[in-house]
Amino acid sequence: MGNRALNKPADQTTVLVTGGAGFIGSHTVVELLDRGYDVVVVDDLSNSSQEALERVRALTGTQADGQRGRLTFYKESILDAQALEQVFERHPVDVIIHFAGFKAVGESVQKPLEYYWNNVAGTLALCDVARRHGCKNLVFSSSATVYGEPEFVPITESCPKHTPTNPYGQTKSMLEQILTDLYVGDDEWNVVLLRYFNPIGAHVSGTIGEDPEGIPNNLLPYVAQVAVGKLERVGVFGDDYPTPDGTGVRDYIHVVDLARGHVAALDWMAGRVGTGEALGLGSLAGQPAVDGTRRGVGIFNLGTGKGSSVLDVIHAFERACGHEIPYQVMPRRAGDVAENYAACEKARDELGWVAEYDLDRMCEDSWRWQSQNPNGYRG
Ligand code: UFG
Repeated sequence: MGNRALNKPADQTTVLVTGGAGFIGSHTVVELLDRGYDVVVVDDLSNSSQEALERVRALTGTQADGQRGRLTFYKESILDAQALEQVFERHPVDVIIHFAGFKAVGESVQKPLEYYWNNVAGTLALCDVARRHGCKNLVFSSSATVYGEPEFVPITESCPKHTPTNPYGQTKSMLEQILTDLYVGDDEWNVVLLRYFNPIGAHVSGTIGEDPEGIPNNLLPYVAQVAVGKLERVGVFGDDYPTPDGTGVRDYIHVVDLARGHVAALDWMAGRVGTGEALGLGSLAGQPAVDGTRRGVGIFNLGTGKGSSVLDVIHAFERACGHEIPYQVMPRRAGDVAENYAACEKARDELGWVAEYDLDRMCEDSWRWQSQNPNGYRG
């Protein structure tokens, strides 16, 4: 069947973005549209809002569906193979950026079937339809969670993977294996696994950002809701870790930097940047792109390389919002690691990508989004 070549200008390249209405997805769609790509979003809106895409259109000057817009939206689940068939029949999809998936660590422990079904079976359905339509180019949203308790920091891509402590993490790790096996079985596949560290921040306009439903699980949206007065105080989960101030250390990365990492991955897959030496697998490792399209499995951390503690984040947010943020130390949260931050050299050398924004800028942008949209997209 072959695979679609990617060595053509962005405005002749169609990118299918699953989960494109979500937090990372919507920011990535902005970057893709700014670069001139044709974007098709498939999102079932189970944890996202169509309003995010309306705002993306406004930000990028993209027209509504059905006009001459370069952004088309389908409210469909990736589990619906028939709906996916129609999308691939209508659009000559060259490459997929696959964000769609459930992502709440705690919820995944309560609902393992839903998580394995949606994340794993959904990806299988997507890949099956894609290959039948000659598209074997895929960027996958993976996570630093695949390293489990990391053997060393900064974490390089060759740091051994460890069994994640929850079904959400398991789905990421399994999907990395499944996508790698696709290439082992059929070397036309061109797969990039992007292992995200902790994405925060928002578009500088303050019009799109993270919009969790209910009480946030993650630190930043929680801090932001305390800052805006919706929640009383931040619970700091443990201050007795072996870290400089005793609180957990993470590698927070601005979501716009992360989004640009995906655009860089497309350039890399098309053979426009890098040498291919970073290909993780196979006899094609290190060879130049074939027909303008690499083949293999590229694995990259997307982080800043800098660790920040929970208290660093709270203080940076205080600077951004201009007032104190109350917090209280609580017991450790089960499953948390003390410290994790990325080694970023591989992404720099192969993708030509480095994160630009620091923690203060992440908090400023996050505050702009939160203060302008205290109830997120719900108005
Ligand atoms: N934390 C608090 N209070 C909170 C929330 C978090 O103190 O209310 C602390 C945590 O203990 C941790 C840090 O803030 O030290 C960051 O916690 P997050 O929940 O924001 O992020 P995690 O690092 O736990 O999780 C992130 C992603 C997951 C991914 C995981 C592992 O959200 O998807 O990284 O890479 F699985």
